[in-house]
Amino acid sequence: MSEQPIIVVAGATGVVGNEMIRILEERKTPCKELRLLASENSVGELYSFHGQEVEVRLLTEEAFAGAQYALFATSADLSAKYVPAAAELGVCCIDNSSHFRMAANVPLVVPEVNASAISIGEKIIANPNCSTIQLVPVLKVFEELAGLERVVVSTYQAVSGAGKAALDELWESTRSVFTQQEKEPEAFPHTIAFNCIPQIDVVLDSGYTKEEMKIINESRKILGLANLKITATTVRVPVFHSHAESVNIQTQRSISREQIIELLEKTPGIRVYPNYSDYPMQRDVAGTDEIHVGRLRKDESAENAWNLWIVADNVRKGAALNAVQILEQLIR
Ligand SMILES: NC(=O)c1ccc[n+]([C@@H]2O[C@H](COP(=O)([O-])OP(=O)(O)OC[C@H]3O[C@@H](n4cnc5c(N)ncnc54)[C@H](OP(=O)(O)O)[C@@H]3O)[C@@H](O)[C@H]2O)c1
Repeated sequence: MSEQPIIVVAGATGVVGNEMIRILEERKTPCKELRLLASENSVGELYSFHGQEVEVRLLTEEAFAGAQYALFATSADLSAKYVPAAAELGVCCIDNSSHFRMAANVPLVVPEVNASAISIGEKIIANPNCSTIQLVPVLKVFEELAGLERVVVSTYQAVSGAGKAALDELWESTRSVFTQQEKEPEAFPHTIAFNCIPQIDVVLDSGYTKEEMKIINESRKILGLANLKITATTVRVPVFHSHAESVNIQTQRSISREQIIELLEKTPGIRVYPNYSDYPMQRDVAGTDEIHVGRLRKDESAENAWNLWIVADNVRKGAALNAVQILEQLIR
């Protein structure tokens, strides 16, 4: 496209939408006009973008008219309604919600892993779940080196993954412990202050949570490995930003630690911590763009098995940055 595009951010006033605005500006993504959409509560709020003030407008179907691209940072219900409507108007939509991710005709993309899944003229592209995004580039390295045999993931997920109300709830809940004015939790099923909750999203009949099934099903789709043996336990921890994952990976063939580190280091978007005593932590990783990989060590309890620790900013690489990277690929 020679002319710069009109870009819409739907859900612009939320955790992910706010970060999208920042990242579009930081990366100088080509943009002739930025439109910001949200609920009636936010209409009229002003955001700065490249020195100009942009006023938040109401999310309606008409608000997409004439735009070329839309980044959606809305709930699954809102995306289900407005993404097809915008696509009908010719707008190419990149959606952060879970609604379209597993649809057979919708590419689910982490650019470092499966950029080729996007074809020209595509109108709906899904951004994966934050926990999946930071996992699959690392899994791809092991798949390329020695074939994946089995993957076991346990997550330690920040509250920002549940949106702005959840961030407020961690503050309030923590403060209320000291003032002895504890309230019923709203954003989480239990009190989040000084607690870890082994439930993210709803619990399904199988006993797994929806978040766990997102990691399992989305990883298989992105990697193109429909039968990949992978299981997950997802846990919400009282941390504001960045998700951490303890991952056990078993490969089909033998590989050395040096081979793994060499390929991880060559992979765009990954930062490796080769020394055993130097490792990424959620506080330090917040605000960065990379997927941080540390504590890589041989699991002596099984053949060809490895343990590692993966940390990434769930709002940046886990959501807004990944969406903007997809957008930039489309604009190119
Ligand atoms: N947070 C993460 O790390 C993360 C990661 C991956 C994917 N996601 C997904 O990204 C989406 C957004 O998440 P978030 O964390 O940014 O949520 P959030 O902070 O709660 O923001 C929600 C956004 O949706 C808008 N909205 C709510 N109700 C609306 C309505 N009736 N009409 C129009 N706009 C409405 C809000 O506008 P108002 O401010 O006006 O209410 C706000 O801009 C979700 O689908 C989430 O699952 C989030």
